[in-house]
Amino acid sequence: MLMNRIETALVTSPPRRWLQHYEVHLLTRLGGRTPGARVAEIGCGSGYGTKLILDKFGAAGVDAVDLDPAMITRADRRLQRYSGRVRLAQGSATDLRAAFSTFGGGTDASYDAVFDFAIIHHIPDWRGALAEVARVLTPGGRFFFDEVTAAALARPSYRRLFDHPGKDRFTAGEFLAELPRHGLQVGDRWATRVGGDYLLGVATKSGRTEKETT
Ligand SMILES: C[S@@+](CC[C@H](N)C(=O)[O-])C[C@H]1O[C@@H](n2cnc3c(N)ncnc32)[C@H](O)[C@@H]1O
Repeated sequence: MLMNRIETALVTSPPRRWLQHYEVHLLTRLGGRTPGARVAEIGCGSGYGTKLILDKFGAAGVDAVDLDPAMITRADRRLQRYSGRVRLAQGSATDLRAAFSTFGGGTDASYDAVFDFAIIHHIPDWRGALAEVARVLTPGGRFFFDEVTAAALARPSYRRLFDHPGKDRFTAGEFLAELPRHGLQVGDRWATRVGGDYLLGVATKSGRTEKETT
């Protein structure tokens, strides 16, 4: 689901960029860096997270997708100096093969890491998005997530200012419980912030789904 004008303004503002440095710091503490990794980023927005994945996490290259063509234009402008290391596509995180079809990305087990900087709560079928993340990760690959939970989305300020899917949003517990159903093991590598409004963590693709291990 696309952002409204207020959220677009906030997400492209300097405070969002400062906050993203804090998120990167916490995600690195939870799951380490990704030197030399092939990375997919879902919902890249204006591309500041993409830049941090390259500069701070040390990824070799990033395939990044966003549903909003205006965001891809902004990201393209921001990431000019990384050309050759970044491939951008407009499309949905729920079908990465289709989104990355122009350059043949998004195939099974093709990324060492996937990054989600605050996007899955925008997707009506959030479980389908997690299944897609798991599909494209290599066994042992890592899923870095930074999410906005149902607790935040239910707050009057969020409801008044932003547009999000109205039904079936996840609590931190529901998001964490869904991960192993897709073979993503998080253990204790997660943290909440602001009383459970935000959830950050790093899960590792085990190669086996919860069903297969029970
Ligand atoms: C809250 S913004 C986060 C942007 C950026 N990752 C950041 O942290 O600043 C959510 C982004 O997800 C994108 N988005 C929403 N639904 C999407 C989908 N199904 N597939 C890909 N991107 C999506 C929106 O266009 C928007 O750019």
